[in-house]
This record gives sequence, C-alpha cells and structure tokens, in this order.
Amino acid sequence: MKNDLLLRAARGESVERTPVWMMRQAGRYLPEYRAVRANTDFLTLCKTPELAVEVSMQPYRILGVDAVIMFSDILIPVEAMGQEVKLTEQKGPELPSPIRSRDQVDRLAVPDPIEKTGFVMKIIQTLRRELDGAVPLIGFAGAPWTLAAYMIEGGGSRNYAHVKRMMYSDPLTFHALLDKISDTIILYLNAQIEAGVQLVQLFDSWAGELSPDDYSQFALPYERKIFEAINRNAVPTIIYINGSGIFLEHMATCGAEVLSIDWRVNLSDARRRVGPQLTLQGNLDPCVLLSTPEIISERARELIRMGGGQRHILNLGHGILPMTPVENARAFVEAAKEAVQ
Ligand code: CP3
Repeated sequence: MKNDLLLRAARGESVERTPVWMMRQAGRYLPEYRAVRANTDFLTLCKTPELAVEVSMQPYRILGVDAVIMFSDILIPVEAMGQEVKLTEQKGPELPSPIRSRDQVDRLAVPDPIEKTGFVMKIIQTLRRELDGAVPLIGFAGAPWTLAAYMIEGGGSRNYAHVKRMMYSDPLTFHALLDKISDTIILYLNAQIEAGVQLVQLFDSWAGELSPDDYSQFALPYERKIFEAINRNAVPTIIYINGSGIFLEHMATCGAEVLSIDWRVNLSDARRRVGPQLTLQGNLDPCVLLSTPEIISERARELIRMGGGQRHILNLGHGILPMTPVENARAFVEAAKEAVQ
C-alpha cells in the first residue's frame, strides 16, 4: 500500500506523521456530493454502487484524506432486518413502524448480508480496485445500542424516552433485540472484511446518553460480542461514541484498538485515562471547521501535538457539518500533512 499511515497508527506501529480523515467526510458540504444527490434520493445512492463509489472517492480526490470510508449508512442493515427506513432531508432518518413489542422483535430477521446487502460488498470491491492500494478502505456498522435506539424511537431522538422505557421496563425484550442486532452486525462486518475493507469502525454514537452502569449493561457487552466475533486478524478496529468522557475507562475495554472520542474530553487527559496501549482518534469540535483556515490549522496542530505523533489519528469529534466550507475542511487535512514531527 502506498499510504498505510492509518493502519499503522491504528495498530500502534510507528508513523512519520499523524494520519487524518473525517467522520462523514462524504456528504453535503461537498458541492460534488450535492450534484450527485440532486438527481438521486439518499437510499438509492446507498444502493447504487457506481454512485456510492463516486461519492466515497470525492473526499480523497478533493481533500487528500489518508483513508476512504465506504459510502453507506448505519441504518442499511436495519432495513435488511425487515424494518422500513426512510431518510428525508428535513427530518433525517424516519422508521415509520417503530419496534415496541416482543412480537415485533421476534419478527425481525438476521439477514444474510450478501443476499440482502450485496450492493455494499459490491461498493467495497469496486473501491478496492479503484484505490489500487493508494490509501486504506474503512468499513463500518452501527452498534446494537445505537441501532436499537433508532429502531425503537422510530428516528432521531431528544431524550431517548421510548428506547429507555423498554430498556428499564422490559429488559428481556430489549436484550433479545440487542442480541438480534449483534448477530446481524457480526455477519455484516465479516462480509465487509471478506469483500476487502481494511479497517472497521463501529458507531455507538448515542451510547453516551447512558449512565456508566447502563452503558456497562446494555451497550458494552454487545460491542464486545461484535469485536470478539469478527475476523480481527484481518483488520484493526475503531469504536466511536459521542459523549464517552463519562465512561472512557469502560469503553477502553470493549475490544477495539482505536477509541474515537469527541471534543468534550481533553486529548491528553484521555491518553492518561486509557493508558498507552490503545490508539486515540479525534477530537476536534466539528464547529471549529466553521471558523477560518488559520484558526483550524492552529487547533489541528495543537491536537497533533497533544496526540504525540504516535497512536493518534486526527479526526473530528463527530461528523462534519453540512455548512462547512470546503476550504476549511482542506485546512484541517493540510495541517496534518504539513506537521513536522
Ligand atoms: O462517513 C462517511 O462519509 C460515510 C458515510 C456515512 C453516512 N452516515 C452517510 C450519510 C456514515 C459513516 C454514516 C453513519 C451514521 N448514520 C451514523 C453514525 C455517525 C454519527 O454521525 O454519529 C448515524 C447516527 C447515522 C444516521 C443518520 N443518517 C442520520 C442521523 C442522518 C441525517 C443527518 C444528516 O447528516 O443528514 C443520516 C443521513 C446521512 N447519512 C447523510 C449522509 C451523507 C445525509 C443524507 C443526505 O444526503 O441527505
């Protein structure tokens, strides 16, 4: 591979400079992405390999990031399990028939990833061919707690009242759902690895809504189950949680070798809290990218300094915002590429 900085940083091997990529790097802040979306709705884009490959490659071509993440969404396997999913520009994800009963959980399938989501594997195979070893290809999936939250809430949520009601009042049904999602995600990620992804990121984006005890009971065991069952020898693994500062030490035991953290934790403090054995990814507030290239470079250089140049992957603390100017995203990437260590 020509540029394997990300893989080496993830495994804790030495790197010449800190690698950089951005969560949600393929998306609406890029005019080239909006041009593709102008004629195609979001789910069709996810299911049309030719277009999904094109938008996956855009941030690599336009910004020169050190990795490509396959274009898809964490809700794709949810649809494959048999629950209807819609994505609208205004409201984000909408699941019109939310899961509220044991009966509904029992009716969900653990789908064959090739049969139901073969388009994802096709996207991966095509991206590997197109990249030809230029940079690593990242695959991903949503983690059980976060997917269960969407499935039970029926979309995004402010206080997670429905999912937490089931979690507290009917834990058996809730665990049955989490188990079913875990089995689905294990098959799905192993199929991605087989198809050619070189690194896997598990998004437990909303697990930070849980108390530390509830995280240990309802999210962590399923993250662990997934990391134990996927073909680890083939790929390094990343876990992302928004708001993980309250239980970082627990998160560090989930089995991933990279912890992707948000900006509410100081990067040096995070390093002290998790010890030297794991790689940290992050953690610029995505809103910093709304400032100026000079401020962004300064903040990025500060993070690179705190990261210490090894076992650190420069990234945002959450996805890039649609209103981000492209030149600002470029300044972030350039800061990593220009940093001398
Ligand atoms: O990172 C990448 O560039 C790859 C693509 C990617 C998307 N979604 C594309 C997308 C990835 C890795 C995701 C993951 C995802 N999806 C997460 C976890 C990461 C996170 O942000 O916490 C979550 C929670 C979702 C669910 C989801 N999908 C939401 C909340 C939304 C609406 C919000 C928004 O940004 O519009 C989506 C839609 C979505 N997924 C878009 C993109 C580019 C925008 C759809 C559009 O083009 O209109």
